[in-house]
Amino acid sequence: MTPVSILAAKLEDLAERIGGCDGVDPQLKAELEQARALAAGLDPYLSRCTTPESPALRAIAERTRAVDWERRASGSSAPLHQGMLSGHVEGQALKFLVALVGATRVLEIGMFTGYSALAMAEALPAGGELVACELDPDVAAFAERCFAESPSGDRIEVEVGPALATLGRLAADARSFDLVFIDADKGGYLDYLRAVLDTGLLAPGGVICVDNTLLQGQPWAAAELSANGKAIAAFNAALAADPRVEQVLLPLRDGLTLVRWA
Ligand SMILES: C[S@@+](CC[C@H](N)C(=O)[O-])C[C@H]1O[C@@H](n2cnc3c(N)ncnc32)[C@H](O)[C@@H]1O
Repeated sequence: MTPVSILAAKLEDLAERIGGCDGVDPQLKAELEQARALAAGLDPYLSRCTTPESPALRAIAERTRAVDWERRASGSSAPLHQGMLSGHVEGQALKFLVALVGATRVLEIGMFTGYSALAMAEALPAGGELVACELDPDVAAFAERCFAESPSGDRIEVEVGPALATLGRLAADARSFDLVFIDADKGGYLDYLRAVLDTGLLAPGGVICVDNTLLQGQPWAAAELSANGKAIAAFNAALAADPRVEQVLLPLRDGLTLVRWA
């Protein structure tokens, strides 16, 4: 669910309701239909205009779709669902950024079934490495099975456990990364940002990408914010007030913020 997909669904509902009403100006109906088509067609158009995903990425997406996540029981973490997977356009954007930055060391916080991790790994040069943090051991094992069958999967090292503890260990080992992708629990975003900025994990010239920073439009359009909405609104405000960095929030999917040292 993204601001655009929510908007498209709302416009579709309105167009249907108004379409069935007698006496409504046909011009108004036609304009509403135009607005619906504009919103509903954006994501498919972005996908058509973006380089296709690799067969290995398509396989992860298909294998993820084949799981009944709602029925899958996991005592160890919050529920997982298909919509967590970033997908084609965002995956290609991350892959593009890894290449653009010339990253050789990438850190992902929140891996799920491994789609974005593999997308970024595909852009790494020979010898490049990606560390992916994931809380849920079952989904981490799922991703590792997919990586084992992917040409670039051997560049990925999976760290299972709470990401904050993993970040502490990586920092203690003096590891640093050219690109960091934050996409785990929204309530943890500020802690992850601080850990990455405060402990040397972000290399000089490095970039942080943060997912879901539009949070379905909640920060500016919700009458009442969910816990995740509040967490993202607080994260965005803290980031905007941090003089150490500069950032831009791109309206890609559910929002992707790019951050670099000022
Ligand atoms: C939105 S999904 C990641 C999607 C993935 N980046 C992709 O694009 O396909 C968020 C993931 O973060 C994991 N997660 C949640 N809390 C975490 C934590 N404290 N430490 C590490 N991973 C966490 C969840 O188990 C879930 O798999």
